[in-house]
Amino acid sequence: MSHGMMRVAAIERFGDPEQLSIQKVPLPDPGPGQVRMRIAAAAVNPADLGMVTGVYRWKEEVSFPLVPGYDAAGSVDALGEGVSSFQVGDQVIACSQHSLTQVGTYAEYAILSEHYLAPAPQGIELIAAASLPLAGLTALQALEQLQLAPGQTLLINGPLGAVGGFALQLVALRGIQVLAPTFAHEAELARTLGATFMLDREQDIPAQVKQAVPSGVDAALDVIGGVAARSAFEAVHDGGLYVTVVPEFWVPGGQFVPQRGITPRVVGVRSNTLQLIELSSLLANGQLTTRVAKVFSLEHASTAHRLLAAGSIHGKIILLP
Ligand SMILES: NC(=O)c1ccc[n+]([C@@H]2O[C@H](COP(=O)([O-])OP(=O)(O)OC[C@H]3O[C@@H](n4cnc5c(N)ncnc54)[C@H](OP(=O)(O)O)[C@@H]3O)[C@@H](O)[C@H]2O)c1
Repeated sequence: MSHGMMRVAAIERFGDPEQLSIQKVPLPDPGPGQVRMRIAAAAVNPADLGMVTGVYRWKEEVSFPLVPGYDAAGSVDALGEGVSSFQVGDQVIACSQHSLTQVGTYAEYAILSEHYLAPAPQGIELIAAASLPLAGLTALQALEQLQLAPGQTLLINGPLGAVGGFALQLVALRGIQVLAPTFAHEAELARTLGATFMLDREQDIPAQVKQAVPSGVDAALDVIGGVAARSAFEAVHDGGLYVTVVPEFWVPGGQFVPQRGITPRVVGVRSNTLQLIELSSLLANGQLTTRVAKVFSLEHASTAHRLLAAGSIHGKIILLP
């Protein structure tokens, strides 16, 4: 039984990133079916920014101190009764499904159901592995909604972000042709990740799509929302497919009403062990790559939040507990 304490970065109330401060909280023991994970690296996601400002929505009423963080990579520290998939010392990754669990990974330890974990990708540094779970699962689950066949066309409106970057690589592996709007100096990177048609994100997107694929794309994946979501929708041919991971009310007079035979679909990511295992092995064998932009100690979580909120980060921001 543990009577120890652990360090976390937490907030006591919603507000600006400076609300995040280091606290010591009790280190719990894992319950039946749970694993206690020693966190080596935690990634910062846009959802974490929303948790701190208070726009994020949890299933239950939120309790403070609130520890943000969906993503973690580290090792198994203790096992609850009945855990069969892991042993103490195993290197693992996890997606905490914060909306349901309120378990944050901006911490030295996290206690999660074993179903939220998967073996860490072999041969990949834990700092890089921590960037995979939330964005990778979101990308996979968005693509599941589309079920595209080889040769079909997909516009991804933010192809170099975390979710968009994994989605781009995953569909390229399946022979799908991706249209990728980026700044001109990023076009080569998009090509390397598997894009077929490089578009200029500063020019009219539907017009460029029409030039590349005159009948319109078979599908669009929106990872941005707002105006960019609208123009991604416009690029899809009648009766095509559209999925967003950023649900917003953008259709005039309503939201997500079918138009031109296109029924918008929305992704709300869920932890999924099998998908996490699949993503982990794709990263291990080099079929997926990830980029780490900056690494901070947990003490600098507020700086990390400000940096992500400012945008133009090329890669993931990682916190080291
Ligand atoms: N529904 C869910 O379950 C779920 C799960 C995970 C994430 N999300 C949401 O998905 C969104 C993306 O998350 P993420 O982690 O991938 O964020 P991210 O890494 O910041 O990716 C966003 C990308 O979009 C790019 N971008 C922005 N405007 C663009 C434009 N007009 N044209 C081309 N690219 C553009 C950004 O580039 P610059 O920085 O250079 O502008 C950035 O690379 C967030 O809103 C997040 O909250 C939802």
